[in-house]
Amino acid sequence: MWLPAALLLLILPGCFSIYGPRTVGGPEWGSLTVQCHYDPGYETYNKWWCRGEGWKSCEILVKTTGSEQEVKKDDVSIKDNHENCTFTVTMKNLWRFEADIYWCGIERVGTDLGVQVAVIIYPEFCSATSSLCY
Ligand SMILES: *[C@@H]1O[C@H](CO)[C@@H](O)[C@H](O)[C@H]1NC(C)=O
Repeated sequence: MWLPAALLLLILPGCFSIYGPRTVGGPEWGSLTVQCHYDPGYETYNKWWCRGEGWKSCEILVKTTGSEQEVKKDDVSIKDNHENCTFTVTMKNLWRFEADIYWCGIERVGTDLGVQVAVIIYPEFCSATSSLCY
């Protein structure tokens, strides 16, 4: 079966309306922040941060309530900013097993919007000059 490219793009999640960094990294026991940007119009929708490579099977760690109120759970927090259409996820106390594929997403009727973000955790004492690291 032949599908026009435009139709194919519509079926894939995460193609439009939400943008995030492909990769973010942070040091073990440190923290990292991820900023995901969305198109105007989605300000009051719930934004979420999900862990796991599978779009359907990932685990939502934190979700906003559609407001700019920060939501925290354990060492993860999420805060939406309606003015610049950006929400920020912060992960603290990173440890190595948190390195994974995550998603920035927007909850909506039908299929949610989402974009994949790879989280990398590098060793605590790593620096560009350290030979202990790699
Ligand atoms: C959006 O605004 C917030 C709050 O002023 C700021 O922390 C964040 O860095 C801004 N993000 C962008 C992409 O401008």
